Amino acid sequence: MTGGASAFEARARSPGRGITVDLPGSARVPLRQLNSHFPLFEASPQNVTNLPIDLSGKRALVAGVADDGGFGWAIAKALASAGASVCVASWPPAMGIFEKLLERGKLDESRTLPDGSMLDFERIYPLDATFDRMDQVPEKIRENKRYTDRGDFTIAGLTARLEEDFGSPSLDIVAHSLANGPEVKNPLLETSREGYLEAVSTSAYSLVGLLRALGPHLRPEASVLSLTYLASEGAVPGYGGGMSSAKAALESDTRTLAWEAGRKWGVRVNTISAGPYASRAASAIGFIGRIIRFYEANTPIERSLDAMDVGHTAAFLSSPLAAGITGSTVYVDNGFHAMGATLNTPAPVEDDEG
Ligand SMILES: NC(=O)c1ccc[n+]([C@@H]2O[C@H](COP(=O)([O-])OP(=O)(O)OC[C@H]3O[C@@H](n4cnc5c(N)ncnc54)[C@H](O)[C@@H]3O)[C@@H](O)[C@H]2O)c1
Repeated sequence: MTGGASAFEARARSPGRGITVDLPGSARVPLRQLNSHFPLFEASPQNVTNLPIDLSGKRALVAGVADDGGFGWAIAKALASAGASVCVASWPPAMGIFEKLLERGKLDESRTLPDGSMLDFERIYPLDATFDRMDQVPEKIRENKRYTDRGDFTIAGLTARLEEDFGSPSLDIVAHSLANGPEVKNPLLETSREGYLEAVSTSAYSLVGLLRALGPHLRPEASVLSLTYLASEGAVPGYGGGMSSAKAALESDTRTLAWEAGRKWGVRVNTISAGPYASRAASAIGFIGRIIRFYEANTPIERSLDAMDVGHTAAFLSSPLAAGITGSTVYVDNGFHAMGATLNTPAPVEDDEG
């Protein structure tokens, strides 16, 4: 509160009459009119207890959306609910099915936002984040039928399309919600050099490549986010193939990129460390059901993690409310990361695919 604020006193009157505020100099105004006296309240003129996440006028790119079952989708929904226009980038092998599901209305229920309106993507771009430029793409991938009609699906191609469609600078929010480790089911000791490097390339370096390419096209005070997992800090049996190494790199890079991109473009860079959630990617690892039950039995807060928990945190971190937060790993895991010991082990089950 600025000048003279401590001199006024708010008093609750009878509920029917609402709250009035005594201003210095003995004027008494209804609380809801306080805005005209104190511009600080402009963001919420009706009710000073309401602190909204307002992303209207902002454009977001969420990279790593190809169905409605993962964190990218939830982030897109939360950003759109807060008023942002949302573009997504999809991995070519999964993009065709995603487009068909959208066209046929199969995702309409999931597209419904809390106010009843529908999540509409401004653009859906192809992106294989393993590649910065087309000359790095092996022949075998270029000629794959899921890639051939997609044009330039590399980070450079995505950047060029954004510039063509919206000019520059045009972006306020970038969410990196993608990962891939071809040998994720292998313990680290049995991971090949190629598998390890591919996990780190696709799941961690892709953030560096994306930020380097998109940085010049970001508007002032932009926010960049990624998704990480606690296996970066402690061993999680079953999360193999170099994926734990990729997440450790991603978190370390978040701090270094926060410094470099902060000074270069004024951009904030954070990562959300999410608890386990049965997305398509996580279910493919093969033990997601077991680890979700383990978390539910041992987290400080006894509740299931919802993808929207991550979506809402992403919206907050992308908003001016988080203007002072950068270089951070923000845990959205019902508090599991805070535990030094656990109480319960889940009962063994046969079906462990989610
Ligand atoms: N689900 C979990 O339990 C969990 C927990 C913590 C962190 N995360 C992280 O959340 C992020 C999103 O994953 P999710 O679990 O929501 O699954 P998801 O399947 O919804 O998202 C992963 C996306 O990555 C895309 N992708 C794969 N390879 C790609 C490439 N080369 N280029 C571009 N896109 C590619 C997939 O098509 C998919 O859309 C990932 O970084 C993941 O590691 C997930």
